[in-house]
Amino acid sequence: MTQKVVITGAGRGLGAVLADLGTNAGHDVQAAMRSPKKASDLQLDVDSEESIAAFVETLTNRLDQVDVLINNAGVDARAFGADPDKRGPFDVSGDDLLATMRTNVVGPMLLTRAMLPLLRAAGDAKIINMSSQLGSMVVGGSVGEDVAYGSSKAALNLLTVRTAHLLAPDGITTIALHPGWLRTDMGGESAPLGSDETGQRIWEVINSLTPDQNGSFLTFEGTHHDW
Ligand SMILES: NC(=O)c1ccc[n+]([C@@H]2O[C@H](COP(=O)([O-])OP(=O)(O)OC[C@H]3O[C@@H](n4cnc5c(N)ncnc54)[C@H](OP(=O)(O)O)[C@@H]3O)[C@@H](O)[C@H]2O)c1
Repeated sequence: MTQKVVITGAGRGLGAVLADLGTNAGHDVQAAMRSPKKASDLQLDVDSEESIAAFVETLTNRLDQVDVLINNAGVDARAFGADPDKRGPFDVSGDDLLATMRTNVVGPMLLTRAMLPLLRAAGDAKIINMSSQLGSMVVGGSVGEDVAYGSSKAALNLLTVRTAHLLAPDGITTIALHPGWLRTDMGGESAPLGSDETGQRIWEVINSLTPDQNGSFLTFEGTHHDW
């Protein structure tokens, strides 16, 4: 069945792959990106409340409901100029940590909030918050060079659980998803997974998602990830 899908950060990396795969599967994909590439793409900077408002206004003119929201846009502290070797808790600047939080936590929260009427209209919408194993207390406590990134994904995980609890009465299923360590600009060339194959598996997880999985933290294989 054709789904109306919104994907943030769809200009490159995993978001672009998920948008292509979704379109090829016959879904109506609204690809949101900071720098649109073609006429059907939508402009969205999740750091900007004005951009979020304008985006949702355009979306509301295009669609009467949204079945799947993938909050995929994300950064680590390098995006703000942090020294790659100095991103731990005793090095990273407060400003870089806050900027990372702005994109990875505040952005998804404000976008989800602005999209609530469209999500509620679907009756059984799904919200996928692209998290990371590095936001897990179990994994992130011992690995991960970027404490701004790990902290932001941990905060996104809490936001996911709280959102899931509050939106369950609307029939909305909200999850956090660890997409695997991927060969993208963020993941780097030494990552073990390609985003094409993994993107396919992520779509399988999304398609098979059921309300009893609301508020869970899943891997790209559909298995439970420790918090
Ligand atoms: N790659 C991995 O190994 C890995 C592992 C775990 C989780 N993740 C998560 O998966 C998601 C996708 O990662 P990726 O590997 O595809 O990263 P990526 O290649 O670095 O791409 C990041 C995407 O996010 C967009 N973005 C960044 N800031 C934005 C903003 N303020 N507003 C709108 N879009 C913004 C970028 O747009 P621009 O082109 O405009 O910069 C780009 O499209 C992220 O949430 C990431 O944390 C990735």
